[in-house]
Amino acid sequence: MINYNALYEKAKEVLYKNWMIKYTAPSKYLYPHQWSWDSGFIAIGYSHYDQEKAQNEIISLFKGQWKNGMLPHIVYHCDFENYFPDPDYWMTHINENAPSIKTSGIIQQPVHATACLYIYKNAKDIKKAKEFLRFIFPKLKSWHEFLYRERNPDNDGLICIVHPWESGTDNIPVWDDIYRRIKVEEEKLPVYKRKDIETVAKEYRPTDKDYDIYIYLIELFKELKYDQKSILEHSPFLVKGPLLNSILAQSNLDLAEIARIIGEDYKIFEEWYELTKNALNEKLLDCDQHIYLYYDLRNKKLINTHVSAGFTPLYAKIPPDEEAKCIFDYMNSGSFCKLGEKCYAVVSFDRKSKDFSPHHYWRGPIWVNMNWLIYKGLKKYDFPEFKEYASYIAKSIIDLISYYGFYEYFGHEGKGYGAKDFSWTASLLIDVLFEEKGLKEP
Ligand code: GLC
Repeated sequence: MINYNALYEKAKEVLYKNWMIKYTAPSKYLYPHQWSWDSGFIAIGYSHYDQEKAQNEIISLFKGQWKNGMLPHIVYHCDFENYFPDPDYWMTHINENAPSIKTSGIIQQPVHATACLYIYKNAKDIKKAKEFLRFIFPKLKSWHEFLYRERNPDNDGLICIVHPWESGTDNIPVWDDIYRRIKVEEEKLPVYKRKDIETVAKEYRPTDKDYDIYIYLIELFKELKYDQKSILEHSPFLVKGPLLNSILAQSNLDLAEIARIIGEDYKIFEEWYELTKNALNEKLLDCDQHIYLYYDLRNKKLINTHVSAGFTPLYAKIPPDEEAKCIFDYMNSGSFCKLGEKCYAVVSFDRKSKDFSPHHYWRGPIWVNMNWLIYKGLKKYDFPEFKEYASYIAKSIIDLISYYGFYEYFGHEGKGYGAKDFSWTASLLIDVLFEEKGLKEP
């Protein structure tokens, strides 16, 4: 029998351990700085029991926002020796939009408006929460404006990414084909030392070759002085995918709601939602294969690799009922996780693929955040089998963490891998416990 209250206390402890006074690290040892989408998920967890911390998490993150609205994927509040790329490596001062605080020069998924709405909805002190929304609203708006202005190459509402780290799913097999085409010019690669493999075994991390590509791309962006237009023109990695666009679509709806709460104009956010939703359905949904795919803008074609991100449009209720049922059937199959068969939640990559790698980071394992997105999405539809699957995911999240610990990710057999005491594993578990088990703060 799982003691849900005790599990909740443990989750709070994990967040407390990773709390660095101004922000919460994803994991104190492997990722000691502040990461963008991690902090969004973390704030959702805090919103259930500590409004102040939730607000501060977001406020700290937005200290790193660039003048053009870009919210960088890492904000460096301190200097630590155990992480590469270090704060100085990015040299963001070469771009006039960069803030004085050190940050990275690339983005991550815009989950923040959603996190802010959670903070408001769960707030004990509504007056303070409204003040917070008034303070954060212009920043969220300029973040979304940045995406639709600078990262919308076809003007169709599908936002592109220029670096695998921007995807949040660093070594997902979707990039394999693109990597084969990227010729790393050795002379442009600086001498660097990976620090991640001092904390976690190398076999569970991206390869050295992956890292060379990550660094090669950043060197290119530095050469281009982080000018977005030039990056879109020259980056050999240029992709539009279902994960970022679904998260953004939901954030647009939530930003519209925030605007209504504080009496601001909300129409543009609803328009963006519709635009991105329609483009996802028209351009990335592969009806025959029952999944949303990534589109490679350099090669001008859809990438036929099936990953769990391909089901995340459910999260923002992007597929109409019939299409939702189709993609559901594929997810509910031996390729991902079939109800009634021996599996824990949705794996990150098609188990039937020859490249499926059950313990290797984004190349097969189960991630709590991806399952949380799918869980939330399934609950937005009225089909009983969707509800059943959502409950199964919730149960799996609870079981995995209570049996094996607060790991960064889990193998399909259950065991935990990667960083121990990982923040979004804890914060999203808290959200699931509140939603499913009716936990309440006194
Ligand atoms: C890894 C993950 C990314 C996450 C970061 C910090 O790079 O792939 O999604 O934001 O670690 O946790």
